[in-house]
Amino acid sequence: METITINGTNDECFSSAAKALREGRLVAFPTETVYGLGANALDPQAVRRIFESKGRPLDNPLIVHIANISQLEPLVKEIPDRAEALIRAFWPGPLTLVMKKSELVPDEITAGLDTVAVRMPDNPVALRLIEEAGVPVAAPSANLSGRPSPTTYQHVLEDLNGRIEYIINGGPCKIGVESTVLDITSETPVILRPGGVTMEMLETVIGKVETDAVLKPEDGKKPRSPGMKYRHYSPNAEMFLVEGESEEVVRKINLLTSENSAKGLRTGVLSSLENKDRYTAQVVVNIGSLSCLEEVASKLYNALRKFDEEKVDIIYSESFTEKGMGRAIMNRLRKAASGKISVP
Ligand code: TXA
Ligand code: MG
Repeated sequence: METITINGTNDECFSSAAKALREGRLVAFPTETVYGLGANALDPQAVRRIFESKGRPLDNPLIVHIANISQLEPLVKEIPDRAEALIRAFWPGPLTLVMKKSELVPDEITAGLDTVAVRMPDNPVALRLIEEAGVPVAAPSANLSGRPSPTTYQHVLEDLNGRIEYIINGGPCKIGVESTVLDITSETPVILRPGGVTMEMLETVIGKVETDAVLKPEDGKKPRSPGMKYRHYSPNAEMFLVEGESEEVVRKINLLTSENSAKGLRTGVLSSLENKDRYTAQVVVNIGSLSCLEEVASKLYNALRKFDEEKVDIIYSESFTEKGMGRAIMNRLRKAASGKISVP
């Protein structure tokens, strides 16, 4: 299969991609978070092809994307009161709401759960595509399963060229980490995946929210969001997250770098702007200032892919404060890492 890349501003090509999507083919498209791999959510066969082309485990359910509120009602049993407040505050935007599903939603999307995850993306190309296709669009991130999520159309090409029909180029994604997944079926809403809408932002609208046990895996509870149990977002080289006081972190990483060099291994460091000139590693990728976590989020996945391009053997990453966007960043880093190193 040949993958056709089209420009989000070319009207004619755009219409053929929207038609292809409606008719059961796969179209990757930009959103404000990451690129999505879209299929007609009402077509079980098209949805199955998403899993095949990404190599995604079948028990990991998909998010359904809509372009207007009238598309929500047919997908869910009811729209809870608190959903309305959240929708008013955050849609279109990086918030996915998990609600009780209707009969219309195929089991292929929900992996047999009785809930469905829905969001309205804040990206003009995505909204127009869904609108023109005239159907709700199931879309996971458009990467091969396990790889870092794509934040540019080139990332999508790297992973899925020849496996899908279309990629729409809409430039780099603004936010750079995936949407927040919020389960609103329980008494107190639960964040199943931290993302573009922070816990603090949610709490100003609906009061207390909880985080899922899976975000602190040590207490051994079963994850409510199946996707969160997999190792994820990973570059090819093994990555270690180094946590501790900044001076000590830099010292430790430089020490490990010289040990690696002695063994002939090439080291990469995921660094904050503040420390980027202090490392001795062969490859140092600056992902932005410790004081601007939005910038760090937007550069994160590109940085992880960069280490693959540079063919490093081992990666060390700095850690970030777990406040605001820092929760999403640290969640992704933990999932990408195969271990952590704590320094005083
Ligand atoms: O920002 C995003 O959310 C991107 C863009 C493309 O919209 N999409 C995305 O999809 O990140 P994906 O498939 O990579 O992640 C979907 C997450 C998974 O962790 C999955 O387990 C969870 O949402 N999920 C989907 N449906 C669910 C449901 N019914 N109950 C609980 N979790 C669900
Ligand atoms: Mg994903």
